[in-house]
Amino acid sequence: MCGIVGYVGPRPVRDVVIEGLSRLEYRGYDSAGIASVEDGAIHVEKAVGRLSNLVDRLSDEGAFSGHIGIGHTRWATHGRPSDDNAHPHRDCRGRFAIVHNGIVENYLQLREDLLAKGHRFTSETDTEVVAHLMEELDTGDLFTTMMAVARQIRGAYALVAMSAEDPNTLVALRKSSPLVVGLGTGENFVASDIPAILEYTRDVYVLDDGQMAVVTRDGVQCFTLEGQPVAKDVLHVAWDPVAAERGGYDHFMLKEIHEQPKAIRDTLSGRISPDGTRVVLDELGWSTEFIQSIDRIHIVACGTSWHAGLVGKAVMERFAQIPVNVEVASEYRYSHPLQTDHTLVVVITQSGETADTLAALRDSKARGRRVLAITNVIGSSAAREADAVLLTLAGPEIAVASTKAYTTQLVALYLLGLYLAQVRGTVDDQTLQEVLSALVSLPQAAEQVLDAAPRIEQFALDYQDARDCFFIGRGLDYALSLEGALKLKEISYIHAEAYAAGELKHGTLALITEGVPVIALATQTHLYEKTLSNIKEVKARDAFVLGLTFAGDDELQKSVDEVIYLPQTMPVVAPIVTVIPLQLLAYYAAVVRGNDVDKPRNLAKSVTVE
Ligand code: F6R
Repeated sequence: MCGIVGYVGPRPVRDVVIEGLSRLEYRGYDSAGIASVEDGAIHVEKAVGRLSNLVDRLSDEGAFSGHIGIGHTRWATHGRPSDDNAHPHRDCRGRFAIVHNGIVENYLQLREDLLAKGHRFTSETDTEVVAHLMEELDTGDLFTTMMAVARQIRGAYALVAMSAEDPNTLVALRKSSPLVVGLGTGENFVASDIPAILEYTRDVYVLDDGQMAVVTRDGVQCFTLEGQPVAKDVLHVAWDPVAAERGGYDHFMLKEIHEQPKAIRDTLSGRISPDGTRVVLDELGWSTEFIQSIDRIHIVACGTSWHAGLVGKAVMERFAQIPVNVEVASEYRYSHPLQTDHTLVVVITQSGETADTLAALRDSKARGRRVLAITNVIGSSAAREADAVLLTLAGPEIAVASTKAYTTQLVALYLLGLYLAQVRGTVDDQTLQEVLSALVSLPQAAEQVLDAAPRIEQFALDYQDARDCFFIGRGLDYALSLEGALKLKEISYIHAEAYAAGELKHGTLALITEGVPVIALATQTHLYEKTLSNIKEVKARDAFVLGLTFAGDDELQKSVDEVIYLPQTMPVVAPIVTVIPLQLLAYYAAVVRGNDVDKPRNLAKSVTVE
């Protein structure tokens, strides 16, 4: 949460910072700001609201045309969204400027101490104490000043600092909040996330926790926060800059929904043997002995990634016959989880930076557990800190609402479950081949299901004024219902609930009245008749039911008001295609209601605070 950009080089700082922030707006959009050093002084402009408000304020063409600067897009934690609380923040004399992502946990104490020393604060933020501390601890050298600051502050931070006295240097510090340094020629960059600098460079240093970087035009030097030099490897990012563009779509979310066939194909690629008989996951580096020894799996994740974990549980328990718990990371970390010596912990995180998920990863490692990260971001904290990594190859996901990351997480979980089963001998060859062949056919099935978009758009139009919406299903369809409801709430702001279809009559059926939309998923053949009975229960209360089932099913249409037909596939892998109409439904519902689809209110991508 919160996006940071820093630049030093020959280009006008305004161009690089605003462009970079526009690519990071998904990290927060409560306010935005920019600072640069020009003519020996620090200049700052900030605006509450979207980045476009800041751009409007920069109407003077010449403003911020200097060659060193920092920028920030905020997701508010301490202090409501306002001009004053927007970053960058300065000290009393206006000689330092700072942008921050994270939370300075001891800011109240620091603030009191600084107030007692005569500092005057202009914002309610935790960040402003850092600027005042810089003034208080100033050594005359930005690097050592920031080392001194780091000794005083506790909490999580990615910080980029600038001084009017040294108009050639940025100092960037990282503790628990992501930060990368982009390496150019005669110019260098700092950013919270790679898309911000992808247009200029694909070579980066990923700062580790407890590291800082001194960034000038001509070079980058990295150190520990205690000042010990560290040698960094250059990470070359394969992402194509075009992948981070909207590419003709109205919204990133729609583009990302449409990218799913490719993302599924890419994530499968090279992980199934050419003859389609085996899963190839040598990349995990696990021995047969280790795989045989696993006696339980804990899947830990948040939000949509947690929903993917629910599908993963079903797959692993069914094929690998290992008991699986799926835990919400913010609960897991404080719940004294019962891990055995042979528990495998699997964290699922698109960004690889979600604070609670990372905490679960770290706690589990500290207890001696092996941790596998399923993540979409190479170089992310999860990817670097886990013992093994299974990368989803979805490409950059920019829309706040996760779509292609989810489907590729499912692909990764299927591959993992089948791989464990293959090595443990708990799946027979024929079943393995059938499921693998079903997985291989999914990209095409995903293409086909996208054709249903116009009908879903019409449904969204018809129900644009709905206050509530219910999603029901059994088995894997229930896990999908949870994801469908989350997506709808998140971007359309329609209240939505998901229920195991058999559970409605234990209370919630009281809310089903005439015309209430119910999305009923009926893709799990072995549960079909049971689900049909539950659908009849809501129909009997005059709900409007939109059913989802496979093409060729003539039965469902008799019991519901409308049906979306999915291409035939094996029910066990159906979630990967079933979710697509649900994503489209949320998307069109948000569009017809005039919402900002890619940046839903109160939310941000990459939740780097607890
Ligand atoms: C919802 C959504 C969130 C994320 C959650 C975890 O559309 O995107 O629920 O899934 O914040 O994020 P990651 O996967 O980055 O850990």
